[in-house]
Parts: sequence; structure tokens; C-alpha cells
Amino acid sequence: MMPLINSYMLVVLLLITIFQIPPTNAQKNNELKTYIVHLTTPQGQHFSHPQHLQQWYNSLLSQSTNPISNDQKPTMVHMYRHVITGFAAKMTRQQANAMENMEEVLSVKLDSDYHLHTTRSPHFLGLHQDSGFWKTSNYGKGVIIGVIDTGITPNHPSFHDQGMPHPPAKWKGKCEVAGCNKKLIGMRNFYTGVTSPIDEDGHGTHTSSTAAGSPVHNANVFGNANGTASGIAPLAHVAMYRVCDGMCSGSAIAAGIDAAIEDGVDVLSISIGGGYRQLYENILDIATFAAMEKGIFVSCSAGNSGPSEATLANEAPWILTVGASTIDRRIRTTVFLGNKKLYDGESLYQPKNFNHKFRPLVYPGKNGDEHAAYCLEGSLDHIDVKGKVVLCDQGYSEGAHKSKVVKKAGGAAMILANNIVFGETTLAEAHVIPASAVGYGEGVQIKKYFNSTSSPIATILFRGTVLGVNTAPEVASFSSRGPNYASPGILKPDIIGPGVNIIAAWSESIDNNTKSKGYFNVIAGTSMSCPHLAGVAALLKSDHPDWSPAAIKSAIMTTASQLNLNKRAIVDQKDERLLPADVFAIGAGHVNPSRSNDPGLVFDLEPSDYIPYMCGLGYTTKQIEMITKKKVSCSHSIPEAQLNYPSFAVSLKRGDKKTYSRIVTNVGMGNASYTVGEVHVPHGVKVVVVGLDGRQELNFAVGGRRLRYNITFSRDTAAIVKGHYGQGHMTWVAGGYTSDYSVRIPFSFKFE
Ligand SMILES: *[C@@H]1O[C@H](CO)[C@@H](O)[C@H](O)[C@H]1NC(C)=O
Ligand SMILES: *[C@@H]1O[C@H](CO)[C@@H](O)[C@H](O)[C@H]1NC(C)=O
Ligand SMILES: *[C@@H]1O[C@H](CO)[C@@H](O)[C@H](O)[C@H]1NC(C)=O
Ligand SMILES: *[C@@H]1O[C@H](CO)[C@@H](O)[C@H](O)[C@H]1NC(C)=O
Ligand SMILES: *[C@@H]1O[C@H](CO)[C@@H](O)[C@H](O)[C@H]1NC(C)=O
Repeated sequence: MMPLINSYMLVVLLLITIFQIPPTNAQKNNELKTYIVHLTTPQGQHFSHPQHLQQWYNSLLSQSTNPISNDQKPTMVHMYRHVITGFAAKMTRQQANAMENMEEVLSVKLDSDYHLHTTRSPHFLGLHQDSGFWKTSNYGKGVIIGVIDTGITPNHPSFHDQGMPHPPAKWKGKCEVAGCNKKLIGMRNFYTGVTSPIDEDGHGTHTSSTAAGSPVHNANVFGNANGTASGIAPLAHVAMYRVCDGMCSGSAIAAGIDAAIEDGVDVLSISIGGGYRQLYENILDIATFAAMEKGIFVSCSAGNSGPSEATLANEAPWILTVGASTIDRRIRTTVFLGNKKLYDGESLYQPKNFNHKFRPLVYPGKNGDEHAAYCLEGSLDHIDVKGKVVLCDQGYSEGAHKSKVVKKAGGAAMILANNIVFGETTLAEAHVIPASAVGYGEGVQIKKYFNSTSSPIATILFRGTVLGVNTAPEVASFSSRGPNYASPGILKPDIIGPGVNIIAAWSESIDNNTKSKGYFNVIAGTSMSCPHLAGVAALLKSDHPDWSPAAIKSAIMTTASQLNLNKRAIVDQKDERLLPADVFAIGAGHVNPSRSNDPGLVFDLEPSDYIPYMCGLGYTTKQIEMITKKKVSCSHSIPEAQLNYPSFAVSLKRGDKKTYSRIVTNVGMGNASYTVGEVHVPHGVKVVVVGLDGRQELNFAVGGRRLRYNITFSRDTAAIVKGHYGQGHMTWVAGGYTSDYSVRIPFSFKFE
């Protein structure tokens, strides 16, 4: 799972690295570790029964042990049927080496760690009760969303099943513990070391209820964000596959996806990232390929490692990769300084009876004491903060934990200043004293004021829940950015969706909140964005059961919005300049569910189209076979950008001229005729679009349902381009019967 946003883990990891004593080589070789063993299915052999496959796996595993050695016997952990031909087993390094040399074995790889990436959002997305797309898509009725996560909280009000239909007849899933109903139709655990799919973390409960939670009135945390909490697809069914316990493992993720495919889910929501970077090595990429082959739509979080370049997780083209943006709600606080300056921030804890009088402002980090600057445990013991407003820097511990440290030291209130990486994205956290998180830019101003006077004073004003913030959506600073590392010719992320301060169901009470029915929590991360898009995919699937995963993705991407509620360009919170977000931050833009239901044209793909694409990536046939599970040939190979994808990532040297073709399928009016609308490219780049008849037009009345066109990107030999990257877009437009179509295709350029 992608973690909730905090920098606490950094410290923990650091400590572990320092104090771990390296094992001796002998110890290393005898240690039992989990390996994923990839097999090649022997030619002509069919396993008509799952048991026969398992017998084969067991016999291969037993051959890995040298009968005369004293090593422990390997043990089977997971046996896969759909995601790969192979299994996960605990074995020694020697046994793994022995397996690797077997004829049937494609690869033996050490299991890898994956991380978790953390409501009014349906309303913000333009989904309204009893009207429009929510109604026409029947709120996702009949669709099953499989959630790969930390488990779930059965009996939570968000999973009540009033008004829910029975699961479709194809459903083969099961519940390992009591608590299933017509909403929550599956609960299984795959994480070694825990025995139940019950959520002990909260993350999986949150993501599941975001995708498909039933409506719950008066949902709030400490009275904030009060309203009806509802999943994006409130009539869809939920099936939970637990694969994490704090950390997640690749072998468990593969087992969860394997079971979800077998059980019959329609959509997968996976707010997890990590593992190896190449597609053929990353078990999450491999397993989701099998899901896509079965027609299952896969939504994944982009990661929380922004705003640095090339920080994405889940980069495969068969996945929808989702970045995080804000919604139009703030849980507003305002820092008021002695110089009469006001700085807006956020906090989930909003005391009603706080006396807003000015108090002395202290910055424990002013003398260079770093522990005190971050208000770490014990660091304020020798600093007089009693009755004062304490300025703490973000980092090395959770914000809410810092508020406990300040409270223990006698502080009256806390200002939490973002670090530079977090920029202007503020988190509404459950502080235990009056507090306000402020952006990096605001923090600098507050420190300047602190420096400017011998007796700085401040207070915090509590404004409660503010709606209609019309600068939303903005890209969250933490949202991971392109370019794509594993496949530079595919633009990622694909889309952004709500991921900052999202309220949804939680597994336990946070600080004994008794005001709301059931437990809710407000958290942030691309983990929250991913299930929003899984919910949108469920709505689309319900209304268009015949659309493939690629068609659904295309519909979502080509109709996305690049403007905020104010009709200005969506900005990036990575720094206080709040500049328009670039294509590596927002991909195609912000999801617009209602428009995605009627996109006009889609860029469709068949599973077999990915084979020449992977050949073009330079993978060997053996590497491709690890993903496709069948023998492939690279007699036909295409450049990555030739994959029929609804965006372009093209690298251009001086004088380069590159032509790609695209095939569009008309899913709107049969007689439509599309012409090229907007075309934007950077200075020094030219783009030419030509239909098969040589005209810049796609006439479906004449050409049929699918039409091909060519697009040529060229770079001027002489013109100077600005920077290493550039961006642009084009649209295909048509006047429709009931609406006007505008199909937008974003471009990114790498200038070599
Ligand atoms: C939440 O809103 C509902 C309906 O507007 C109201 O009745 C309830 O008192 C509110 N709860 C809180 C804690 O503000
Ligand atoms: C405040 O003063 C300290 C110590 O002189 C200095 O290091 C710091 O950069 C100043 N901060 C700002 C924001 O001006
Ligand atoms: C929550 O309630 C329990 C039982 O009522 C109590 O023991 C605990 O101290 C409370 N925790 C907080 C943070 O108030
Ligand atoms: C397409 O068909 C619709 C209804 O059948 C009609 O109203 C419309 O004018 C036609 N459009 C074109 C471009 O022929
Ligand atoms: C489209 O591009 C392909 C590949 O470069 C080329 O063979 C074909 O002739 C082009 N078609 C048109 C209409 O330009």
C-alpha cells in the first residue's frame, strides 16, 4: 500500500539500516526466504483440473532439495493459476539456485516489498443523486470491485446492504470470516503471518468505502467534513483481498489478484506500489496483465513520491495510473500573526472554545536544534513553550504526534510548517491541541516574522469546514510524477483524482470520536485517488458492459478536464508559485465522470496488441512470456508510442520526424464526422494529422465504426527548444446529436 503521508517511516528505516548486523554468508544461504518461481507451461500439456497443476508445482518444488543436505525443506506459500504459471515458496538461496537451473523454470525471484500509497468527493466530481450519470449508470449496479489492500471492516455502516441487489450469478468468491452481505460479497486473506481479512490498519476500509461504500448520513470526524459519505459506485459490490499488514508482499499481491480473477471481479482497485521497476520483473505489473486479459479494469495509485521527476509506481500501459488532487473542501484554520498577517492552513481538530488571544510564538529550531525544530519526542523538555504557540517543522514524525509532544511540554497551540517537498499541500490531521498545518511558503513568511521581532506573537482562528474552494482541483505536491521510467514511450500518470483530505470509513475510532455513526477518518494519498477511479470505472462498466478495459481508460482520459472550478488551468501545489501543472503531474487531466460516459471516440486495445509493444521495449521473448504466460514471437515489433494509447510520449532529436498511427472506435453517433480541433505543440515542434483518405477528417458515416489516422511529429533542425521536455495536445471535435464531442489527446516530448 502507498503509505499515508508522513515522514515517520524515514526515521524508522534509517534506524533499521544502522543497527542491522550483517549476517554471515553461511547464515544467508541457509535462511528460508520467499521466492516467486515463474514456470513455462510445457508444450502441449493441459491441466484440466487445478489439482493437477498443484501436483506439478509440488513435484517441481520437491526436486529443488538436495536429498543429502541438511537444509530445511522448502515450503509452498502460494500456488498461482491465472497471474503466472508458477508459485511462491520459502526456500534457501541454494534451493532457489537449483530451481533456476530446471528446464521448466523461467525465473526465480526474491519476493519484494510493496507499500500502501492514504466525502463530498462524489458531489465534487459532478455526481448528483437522482440525476445525470450517477442515475444512468445505475450507481454501478451489478459491478464487482475487488480491492487489494489491508483488509476490511465488516458491519461498518458504509458496507450496509439496504437496496443492494444479490451478487451476479458468475460470482465465485467467498468470505473467510462472518460479516458478508449483498454489499460486501468477499473477504479473503493472503498475507502470510496474519490469518484474517479483518482490517487492523484502516487503509483497506477507507479505499473500499471510497470506491463502493453505501451512503451513510452525518459522516464526520470531530464534526468536520460532515455530510453523506458515499462511494463513487454505491450500488457496486465489494470484495476484499487482504495482502498487507503494514507492509505488503509481492507474493501475496499476486495471490490476491489470482483469486480475484478466479472469483469473477470486474474492476480492481490497488493502492499499492513498489517492487522491481521493469514490467517483466514487477509481479504487480505481471498479475494485472492477466487481469486485463480477462477483461478486468485495473486502477492503481501513482505513488506519493512527488514532486521529483520519474517517481511513479505502476507504469504499465494496461493499468490506469492515478495521481492525487485536492477537492473543493478545506477544514480551515488561519494563523494570525502579531504583524496582522493571515495565513490559511488546515486541521481536522477544530476546538470550539479556543480563546483567540495572541500568545508568544516560539520556534524551538531557532538555534539549529533539529530534533526540536521537528518537535520530536522529548526535544521540547528544555525549552519553555508553556502557554505559547509552538512552530514545528514537518518531517520525521506524524503531524498529530508532534501535537502530542507540544501538548506534553505545555504548549497552547502548534503551527506545523510544511517542508519544501510537501510544498503547498496541507493535511487536515487529528491534532490533540489547537493547531494549523501551513504550506512551505507560509511557513517561511511566519519564520521571517519570527526573526523580525524580539517578542513575536500569534494565534490560530478556527473556521471549520469550508466548501466551494474554487481553486480546486490542484495537484498534490506528493503525487508521483512522470516521465515513465519502465516505458518512456507511454505517458504517465494517466489521470488525477481526489486524494487530499478524503473522508471515508475507518476500522476504529480515531481519538474516541463519538459524534459520527461508524468510524470515519480523513486521510490523503494517491491511495485515495485510485479507488475514486475504480468507482468511476464501475459506473462506466455498468452503463457499457461491452467496453474493454482499454476503452474505459480511453473514455476517462480523453474527456478529462485541465481547468479548475474557476475555469483556470489546474495548478501544481509543489511550490508557492502555484504554476499550471504539467503533463507529467496531471497526465490527461482531472477525471470528469459524466463526460467520460459519452466520449464519442475511444482508443481500444486487445491483449495481443501489447506483445509487439513489449518487443519494441526491447524485452526478450522469455521476458515477455513471463508477462503473457504464453510463448510469443517478436517477428512484429512496434515503437512504444505506436501502441493505440490515448496519449503520446515522443522523444525527438533535431530534425527527427516520427509517424505513428492510431485507430479510433466510434462509440457515439454512427454518422459523426470528426475534424481536428485544437493543436498545441511547443516551439520547434510540428504535428501533422492525416486520415486515411489524406484529409484531416474522420467520417464515420462513410468509413464504418473504426477509422485509422496517422500523426507525424517533427522537430525543426534549427529552432531552439526550451528545456529537456515539452508538452502539447490535440482534439478531435464533432457536433453531436445531443452534445458536442471533444476528444483530447495529450502529448509529452523529450528533446534529445
Ligand atoms: C451533520 O449534518 C446533519 C444534517 O445537516 C446535522 O443534522 C448534524 O447535526 C450534523 N452533525 C454535526 C456533528 O455537525
Ligand atoms: C531566521 O534567522 C535565522 C538565524 O539568523 C536564519 O538562519 C534563518 O534563515 C532566518 N529565517 C528566515 C525565514 O528568514
Ligand atoms: C478512549 O476511550 C477509552 C475507553 O472509554 C479510554 O480508555 C481512552 O483513554 C480514550 N482515548 C482517548 C484518546 O481519549
Ligand atoms: C446524424 O443522425 C442524427 C439522427 O439520426 C441526425 O439528427 C443528424 O443530423 C445526423 N448528423 C449528420 C452529421 O448527418
Ligand atoms: C501512415 O503511416 C504509415 C507508417 O508510417 C504509412 O505506411 C502510411 O502510408 C501512412 N498513411 C497515410 C495515409 O499517410
